[in-house]
Amino acid sequence: MQADPPVSHLIRAITKSFLGAGIPSPQTEAEWLLASILQTNRSGLYQQAEPRFSSAQRQMLVEYHTHRLQREPLQYLLGTCAFFGYEFQVSPAVLIPRPETELLVEKVIALLQSKKKATIIDLGTGSGCIAISLARELPTAQVVATDISNAALEIAKHNATVHEVADRIRFLQADMCNASLWRELPQFDCVVSNPPYVLQEERAELQPEVRDYEPAAALYVEGDGLQFYQTITKFCEQHLKCGGYVACEMASQRSAAIAQLFHTSSFTSVEIIRDYSGFDRHVIGQKI
Ligand SMILES: C[S@@+](CC[C@H](N)C(=O)[O-])C[C@H]1O[C@@H](n2cnc3c(N)ncnc32)[C@H](O)[C@@H]1O
Repeated sequence: MQADPPVSHLIRAITKSFLGAGIPSPQTEAEWLLASILQTNRSGLYQQAEPRFSSAQRQMLVEYHTHRLQREPLQYLLGTCAFFGYEFQVSPAVLIPRPETELLVEKVIALLQSKKKATIIDLGTGSGCIAISLARELPTAQVVATDISNAALEIAKHNATVHEVADRIRFLQADMCNASLWRELPQFDCVVSNPPYVLQEERAELQPEVRDYEPAAALYVEGDGLQFYQTITKFCEQHLKCGGYVACEMASQRSAAIAQLFHTSSFTSVEIIRDYSGFDRHVIGQKI
């Protein structure tokens, strides 16, 4: 039987092919792909100089490699994504959680840490990454997680069960723009949202992984891109307690307009937070 090539050889060959396909961070992705197939992590990979692949693993490597060259995100191929130190199941029904969204979660935790039994609503929960991380980090918090997509909510429910917070999260299928669905909801200490915020005309600027594979309903917004922030500020008029916080992710290009909208609504101390690349990414307001 022919021996498998050494790991360093495989990493080099896959990196080269990924580079040729225009995949950003090709070596990191090559290591990640191999590590996942060999059920180890990236540093563990280098301790297996000459790994032995089962035939199923070899087949998986060929299949995932081929799909990745077509720019299908590795997270969808592997079915998982790390967020805030937790592993989340993902599928093409949900947006792949982004590292910059962890900053929003960090900020909300800092604001609510001293509050016993904080109540939180996550509008547009997707995989549940925000709602579930908050429930894990704030052990007395009660969370409502909403999404327009039933398929997304199924994934979020699964993730909540895996992370043992399903008993503190209520999942609700609702269109956040339909105010009649809000009636039954109470007031919350915090409203958090990472709504769709890409304009249709910005579509061409997206990486193929995002443009061709992530769900359109999670990405795009009509018109000037402010629709969801207008909805969220209206929602907060009725459903955010005085002294409570609203925390949203946004497109940096629209940060000034969104901050202005928050200022003219019932929020004081509107704060803009920048992401790791220095772009305005989150807006936090406290209700007067
Ligand atoms: C940008 S994704 C955010 C997902 C997740 N919270 C995250 O940060 O990774 C936006 C989410 O909002 C949902 N969504 C889009 N339009 C909506 C609407 N009108 N009402 C409720 N949810 C909506 C999408 O299905 C998607 O899951």
